[in-house]
Amino acid sequence: MSPPLRGALIVVACLSVTGCRDEPKRVSSNAAREVLSSENVQHVPAWARSERLPKRAVAGARLFALSGCTNCHTYLGVGARNVGGRDLSSAGLRHGQRYFERYVAQPGRFGNGVMPPFSALGARKLRQLSVFLASSKGAR
Ligand code: HEC
Repeated sequence: MSPPLRGALIVVACLSVTGCRDEPKRVSSNAAREVLSSENVQHVPAWARSERLPKRAVAGARLFALSGCTNCHTYLGVGARNVGGRDLSSAGLRHGQRYFERYVAQPGRFGNGVMPPFSALGARKLRQLSVFLASSKGAR
């Protein structure tokens, strides 16, 4: 097959697969996110000290640092506030564990159409995240 024809075929194949042309961009932003997440995890011991987190909240703190939450929320200066997400280091003053379990699984049910649902994390991880959030009552 002649090179120009092959090139044309690749373009057609790409156009017929939705999002094909965005692929390289998505891959690199995921890679960047992973690097950021692993850096975020280094802050967990400082979070635990400043917030006087109980031991059972630490697993959830690590999940929080690693699950993409800090793309839209901050926690004691770590992360970024995007698309209206707020700082969550005092989240436990507003709501309790049960609320967070339901909220993080399905934010849409709480009128939040921006935050993606995290139900795929499963009940155990949602509980760990929620223990962390409910224990987060601000730096003390
Ligand atoms: C794409 C952005 C985005 C991501 C990613 C995201 N959130 Fe959100 N989240 C929001 C927005 C926007 C709101 C609504 C404004 C607010 O309350 O911060 C929100 C609200 C919340 C609330 C309610 C806060 C309150 O006090 O009522 C909780 C809890 C929460 N997010 C936890 C999480 C957790 C945990 C993760 C990661 C598993 C996460 N979010 C990931 C955007 C995001």
